Amino acid sequence: MQFKLSQRILKPDFQGEFTASILAAAASPDIISFAGGLPNPVSFPIPEMEAATQKVLETNGVIALQYSSTAGWPALRRWIAKRYETMGVYGVEADDIIVTNGSQQALAMIGAAMLDAGDKVLVEDPTYLVALQSFHVFDPVVVPVAINADGIDCEKLAEAVKANPDAKFMYVIPNFQNPTGLSYSQEVHDKVVEIFKGTNILLLEDNPYRELRFAGTATNSFGAELGEQCCMLGTFSKIVTPGMRIGWICVRNRELRAKLLGYKATADLHTNIFSQMVLAQYLADNDVDAHIEKTKALYKQKAEWMMACMRKYLPAGVTFTPTEGGMFLWATLPEGITAVELYRKGLEKGVAICPGDPFYETERNVRTFRINYSNSSDEVIEKGIRILGEVCEELLNQ
Ligand SMILES: Cc1ncc(COP(=O)(O)O)c(C=O)c1O
Repeated sequence: MQFKLSQRILKPDFQGEFTASILAAAASPDIISFAGGLPNPVSFPIPEMEAATQKVLETNGVIALQYSSTAGWPALRRWIAKRYETMGVYGVEADDIIVTNGSQQALAMIGAAMLDAGDKVLVEDPTYLVALQSFHVFDPVVVPVAINADGIDCEKLAEAVKANPDAKFMYVIPNFQNPTGLSYSQEVHDKVVEIFKGTNILLLEDNPYRELRFAGTATNSFGAELGEQCCMLGTFSKIVTPGMRIGWICVRNRELRAKLLGYKATADLHTNIFSQMVLAQYLADNDVDAHIEKTKALYKQKAEWMMACMRKYLPAGVTFTPTEGGMFLWATLPEGITAVELYRKGLEKGVAICPGDPFYETERNVRTFRINYSNSSDEVIEKGIRILGEVCEELLNQ
């Protein structure tokens, strides 16, 4: 039988092919996978979750197992609203928070609420590939703006904003950007605020890695200066658990908020209320900051170990940006070999990396690639990087 499918999700598309194969490689026991972004299980508080689950079922079992409201569980929304004070944003109310099925759903919701075909969206170049895919479902014109070691290239950003004053939003990941691991400096942050103030363009800030900083200081959220012009996305995936699928949007513009809630109701009625209540109970009964410290200590050690192995085993022409947090390193191959070649040959030898290509809107056959250090043992990191070094040498000598 041949169904007539929609023109909306054009699969297999380039980004889709990579997302699927990266997830498949991450799940395969025979492959050393540096390709995905799996948190280390050290960040999963299993006994504490067990206690929180018991408590929720004993005290509030009927509510936890019943249908619930689209915006989310009030206690959890209050906790998230208060957390913004640690990012320099005061006065956020529980009502400004919509709990979502991971921050991934928030990206799809923003696309649905804001984009008609042909609308313009500004993004960092490269950027999170599944954000690109989510926006493309709504058929926008995506305008990429280069990033460098201090964050977005402000000159290029000012030009892009001037040339596209009708853009609907700009998507930014200011801390330990996925894929590059780069963060915005204070100077870049301030210039970005200047560029967007007075425009009608929403700044969509995605911040899953901000709490995973193990050195240096983070800039505040853009919502501190831009108020309702900034929508802030967040998630518990990297600090507590991705499996419970709890993220959020902080949206202070009433009209946009109503539209997002309307769309979410049609997508799923509401986020899993049982998960939301267990998570809220966990947060009420435990010191999550102490918990995050343990994760950060482990990631610092893993990042340093991976960087040491890269210096030891990769050929001299391979460069990478040292990181102060998050879960990824971003490397560049020497002239003459592409990251897709490394990806394909690496897979044959049992090691998966994520080539840069699907993170760019237009560039292909790039020399940049992303590697993840959060979820491999030290032995596996050393073995995997040694194999990658051999594969690079082979490709260089071809
Ligand atoms: C930049 C960025 N945004 C959003 C997400 C989605 O995370 P989740 O849906 O688990 O909250 C990820 C996941 O890796 C990410 O890297």
